[in-house]
Amino acid sequence: MREFALPEMQAAFDPAAELAARPRRWLVTGSAGFIGSHLVEALLRAGQQVVGLDNFATGFQRNLDEVRAAVGEQAWARHGFIEGDIVDPATCANACEGVDVVLHQAALGSVPRSLADPLRTHAVNATGFLNMLVGARDAGCARFVFAASSSTYGDHPGLPKVEERIGNPLSPYAVTKYLDELYAGVFTRSYGMQTVGLRYFNVFGPRQDPDGAYAAVIPNWASRIARAEACMINGDGETTRDFCYVANVVQANLRAALVPAEGPRHEIFNIAYGEQTTLNQLHGLLVDNLRERIPGLQAPPPAYREFRAGDVRHSLADVGKARRLLGYAPTHSVRQGLREAMGWYVRPPGTAPDA
Ligand SMILES: NC(=O)c1ccc[n+]([C@@H]2O[C@H](COP(=O)([O-])OP(=O)(O)OC[C@H]3O[C@@H](n4cnc5c(N)ncnc54)[C@H](O)[C@@H]3O)[C@@H](O)[C@H]2O)c1
Repeated sequence: MREFALPEMQAAFDPAAELAARPRRWLVTGSAGFIGSHLVEALLRAGQQVVGLDNFATGFQRNLDEVRAAVGEQAWARHGFIEGDIVDPATCANACEGVDVVLHQAALGSVPRSLADPLRTHAVNATGFLNMLVGARDAGCARFVFAASSSTYGDHPGLPKVEERIGNPLSPYAVTKYLDELYAGVFTRSYGMQTVGLRYFNVFGPRQDPDGAYAAVIPNWASRIARAEACMINGDGETTRDFCYVANVVQANLRAALVPAEGPRHEIFNIAYGEQTTLNQLHGLLVDNLRERIPGLQAPPPAYREFRAGDVRHSLADVGKARRLLGYAPTHSVRQGLREAMGWYVRPPGTAPDA
């Protein structure tokens, strides 16, 4: 299968100019969630028509309200929303009608959730994904970009992670995300679709849910530290992650959706910043950031407990392929992202973020 576009085309490729020159109709699934809501916001700001699809399983109306407040009523008038479940094929078919590009984010995230309820994770992440592919194929959508996951690297020890070298999956969640890649490849080969999987590495930013049993580490710790509560570290704290600020993920999606390509294409890209941070370092960064915002904050030291089942020990992405073929150039390091997101984490509920 040919590569997405010639490398020399990327230097000149400007997604903003492309969006302005040729506005499109987009479907963002999981639009009431963390990443989906940022995609909706970016697309509305860029003058696009956007349909969102979500069943509020883990997403929130408040995320959509925040987007509306951020973009203003004029832009919001270009937004439509379908409340529905991707496990229902008819819902997916209906949502894809008249859509140029699909950004498929809807899924049940979290490794522990998938270990607790593998059937539901499979229904949404595998069957729901297949429903979306069929809907996009039948509607003739020009490109199908989807949220894949770094969990696909499983137990492969190599660092940094390169797209073609993966190990055994360590959780049902990881199985479903790899299955999605396989199905997307088959739909390209069998039906001539353009499909792009973006393997996100630990994304963080405003609107990521800080609450609940399956909360991601950064929003969970930020809200705990702000309340002067101890954070729980699974293992010795020397586990590493390649934390990726959500603005980098938005950029990757727009580039993956818009970069010129002819004919059937299937590609998988790592999307991360390309830097390793230990959990101990992350805790220190969060405490330092929050102390700047909350004078006199007394942050207790973290508490250590057993390693968590299904977790990989180290994670670091090689983002060279995305740089080369998509022109991806991440703008925010972990430090820059935390600085930008922190205002949202510590604001009183229901108020606008100050940063
Ligand atoms: N956040 C990360 O670090 C990360 C890392 C790797 C991959 N991903 C993937 O990125 C995507 C977005 O994740 P997120 O962090 O924004 O999570 P999120 O939980 O905030 O968003 C997922 C959205 O999908 C919706 N959804 C779930 N089941 C649905 C269903 N059956 N029908 C319709 N909508 C449904 C939820 O209500 C939610 O709004 C997911 O596919 C996830 O697996 C995220």
